[in-house]
Amino acid sequence: MCGIVGYIGNKNCVPILIGGLKQLEYRGYDSAGIGVMNHNGVHVVKSVGKVAALETKINGSPFRSTLGIGHTRWATHGVPNERNAHPHVNNAGTLMVIHNGIIENYVEIKKTLSAEGFRFVTETDTEALVHLIDSFIRRGYPLFKAVRAALSQVKGTYGIAVVHASEPDCIVVAKNGSPLTIGIGDSENFIASDVSALVAHTKQIVYLEDGDIAEIRRDSFFVNDMTDQRIEKEVQYITVKLEEISKGGYPHFMLKEIMEQPESVYNAMRGRLLYDEGTSKLGGIDEYADRLADSKRIIISACGTSWHAGLVGEYMLEQYAETPAEVEYASEFRYRNPIITKDDTVLFISQSGETADTLAALKETKRKGALALGLCNVVGSSIARESTAGVYLHAGPEIGVASTKAFTAQLTALALITLMIARKKRLSLTDGQTIVRELQMIPDKIRTILRLNAQIETIANKFADARNFLYLGRGYNFPVALEGALKLKEISYIHAEGYPAAEMKHGPIALIDENMPAVFIALKDSTYEKILSNIQEVKARHGKIIAIANEDDEEIDNYVDYSIKIPRTIRMLNPILSAIPLQLLAYHIAVHKGLNVDQPRNLAKSVTVE
Ligand code: F6R
Repeated sequence: MCGIVGYIGNKNCVPILIGGLKQLEYRGYDSAGIGVMNHNGVHVVKSVGKVAALETKINGSPFRSTLGIGHTRWATHGVPNERNAHPHVNNAGTLMVIHNGIIENYVEIKKTLSAEGFRFVTETDTEALVHLIDSFIRRGYPLFKAVRAALSQVKGTYGIAVVHASEPDCIVVAKNGSPLTIGIGDSENFIASDVSALVAHTKQIVYLEDGDIAEIRRDSFFVNDMTDQRIEKEVQYITVKLEEISKGGYPHFMLKEIMEQPESVYNAMRGRLLYDEGTSKLGGIDEYADRLADSKRIIISACGTSWHAGLVGEYMLEQYAETPAEVEYASEFRYRNPIITKDDTVLFISQSGETADTLAALKETKRKGALALGLCNVVGSSIARESTAGVYLHAGPEIGVASTKAFTAQLTALALITLMIARKKRLSLTDGQTIVRELQMIPDKIRTILRLNAQIETIANKFADARNFLYLGRGYNFPVALEGALKLKEISYIHAEGYPAAEMKHGPIALIDENMPAVFIALKDSTYEKILSNIQEVKARHGKIIAIANEDDEEIDNYVDYSIKIPRTIRMLNPILSAIPLQLLAYHIAVHKGLNVDQPRNLAKSVTVE
């Protein structure tokens, strides 16, 4: 979603801001803008569409400064046009603000300020904040105090950066619910909503917390809380490398990330498996391992693909850990009155660690006294920091909007958690060792699957004109069917639905005709015979069938139009393998249709609004 960058130093900020905005493109946006400070005051350039369009607009213009801020906007209030793009400026053209998040009481603020003579020119909620800060500046407040006073009247979420012509050597930033970091350089400092915009410049980062407000100058910065008390901040060193956030020779980030899965899955389990003891050790939650194992119930809460991983986790926990498990959409969980007790553990899964609904559900869980654990990929993200304890996925940065390697890393981490609990309960040493051994073999099995890329591309090309798709699976492979359908719809814009295969007879079968492709995940497990019957039912109605099947399954070819054969593993790990051909299928269909695979329309990488 919206992205923030900022620079104050001795270099021309324009290329730094443009470079930073390009690194944030993956988050999803529809317009962009930068604003700089020079001797005449603040100057802003904005454009609809890609950062490249903004760059073209700037090129050739005498637009230089050593202080500036930049923004990519994902429209919430008001259509994506130049006027609604950030930075927003006050009526005098002396103050500029960029903002991520939503000002919920903007209508009231706008009403009051309009009555006082402030002129509103956009449809955004952010503009209310601009004029509110301005109203305090007009009353003689210095910038830092004006921002604090304005924020104390605001309801909602924000990550903001503010610049005023009367204080040409500082940027004031504040955070509540939207991520914001300060990057520390040598006689220069940076700000960004996402460290990927900073890695080219510095590895030293300060993560701001909710309620923090900071003043940033060339050589210094300080952070206060909303009561104006100074907060000492720890400087953290980020390990993300520049090559990890570039395409590395692949045409798209999504393909690169699919291909990285042997390594990302390995990294998710690296150093965490104890073969001799037939268990796993997860440093981040070790201290809470007994409490987790003693939980009366484990609730998993997440959104989207991470929610699908949670569904697989539910099957794992029920099969091995003998713990009742439930999976909840974070957005529903937080607004119901969920019955959570101190004997429960709630596990929050989030690749980005910034999803607003998941974060809010986490805060609610902590209020109710249950153990709140996080399963995140992005180190230092809000959910990682808010969780009582957690497990990092170590999948590396995921830039493609469609989640791929984070999903398989989530499944791996869930398998490790399940194994740890199960061994504290009744799982035998030998059964534990079998799971460890099977986990260790997964990266090589993924390599085998990735060698099917060309075959999957050929199949994908045959189906690129389909208007609808059904994805069907049973047991562990039902969540994979949901995930396969989600991957296809988000990047190819083809309508796709995932169902438990047995549900087909209760409605979706009416859709089947010769134009309806059905993808079956038909692996040789206890549901195999049943899924073969479902395949027959589709075939009898002339549906086209693609099956994800096991390597040693020759029988299936009698019933299906296309089969993609993957290695065998134990049931609980099947989803890690079966998801991968579905990622490739969606990828190739979208590429065949000439679509923007990495930044599909309307989508954002981290959904920081509710
Ligand atoms: C789909 C996808 C989304 C995310 C969802 C939650 O490919 O990426 O469905 O899974 O927005 O995001 P995180 O995991 O960052 O909380």
